[in-house]
Amino acid sequence: MPDWPARVEIREVGPRDGLQNEEIVAVSERVRLIDALSGTGLRRIEAAAFVSAAAIPPMAGADEVMAGITRTPGVVYSALVPNAKGAERAIEAKADELELVVSASETHNQKNVRRSVADSLVGARDVVELAHAAGIEAEAIVSTAFGCPYEGDVAPERVAQLAGHLIDAGADRLSFGDTTGMATPRRVHDLLDALERAGIAPDRAGLHFHNTRGTALANVIAALGRGVVRFDASVGGLGGCPYAPGASGNAVTEDLVHMCADMGIDTGIDLDALLACAHLAQEIVGRELPSALLHAGPRTRTYAS
Ligand code: COA
Ligand code: ZN
Repeated sequence: MPDWPARVEIREVGPRDGLQNEEIVAVSERVRLIDALSGTGLRRIEAAAFVSAAAIPPMAGADEVMAGITRTPGVVYSALVPNAKGAERAIEAKADELELVVSASETHNQKNVRRSVADSLVGARDVVELAHAAGIEAEAIVSTAFGCPYEGDVAPERVAQLAGHLIDAGADRLSFGDTTGMATPRRVHDLLDALERAGIAPDRAGLHFHNTRGTALANVIAALGRGVVRFDASVGGLGGCPYAPGASGNAVTEDLVHMCADMGIDTGIDLDALLACAHLAQEIVGRELPSALLHAGPRTRTYAS
């Protein structure tokens, strides 16, 4: 058996990456979901995005969401910001951590934040400075890190180079997004190899998979075998990206937690409490979510013979 890490940290991104791609959900329902997730043992919840409401209507009211939630001590409530204006708003709303985002492909960056990758790198410094001045950390997310829906394959070396620039810009943490589900285990190894060559060890890389093509958990397994310990996932499998044609939900939090539990990998998350959140997520968006656990239940569920 490979040497799995003893413990991994799962960040719940359903309230942001998930809900931004659903029909608009009321602020009160977003708060309800985050509060429920806060009681599962999750240590990180991406709670909101301080973006232009015209660009992403479901993320409007981010400040009200942050003001409405009941913060559980020890839980980090992070916010995605596309620019300095977003960072200022997020800090004002008392986000515990900022996530800035830069795409590894020029076309996706242009469509997502309407500027070049070079300009985004300049903007990254502003966001990091604002975060640090406010006494909080800034994570840099490299999106389209495993491929771009407009440009196709993205060279792992390009992603690693961008990661290096983001470290130079002062980012406290790094994360790599498979924005449109183009990763496969082979590509996970290729990226981790390129990062290692650039001096970035796997345990410094957070990974963010989408299950668009059914490979999310396979990618996680590949990464676990390399010592990656941070993963994003969304409850129920909420998720997608409005600028990524054909995008679908993230790795499903409860499917990931369930798999880790049986592999002896500690996530600190209570599966029953999480499943209740998945039911709540499904109720809130009013559509059936793709979570396998929601449909089949845990492997320990038995039936009367
Ligand atoms: N929050 C709220 N409003 C913002 C903002 C922010 N972070 N950044 C800019 N705006 C406002 C400006 O104040 C301006 O408002 P006005 O017209 O009332 O003066 C308007 O948006 C346009 O500003 P501009 O700087 O020209 O932005 P833009 O139209 O080029 O859009 C972004 C750039 C980054 C704001 C926008 O593309 C965006 O929010 N993208 C986020 C995409 C995303 O979240 N993707 C998720 C990953 S899949
Ligand atoms: Zn995503």
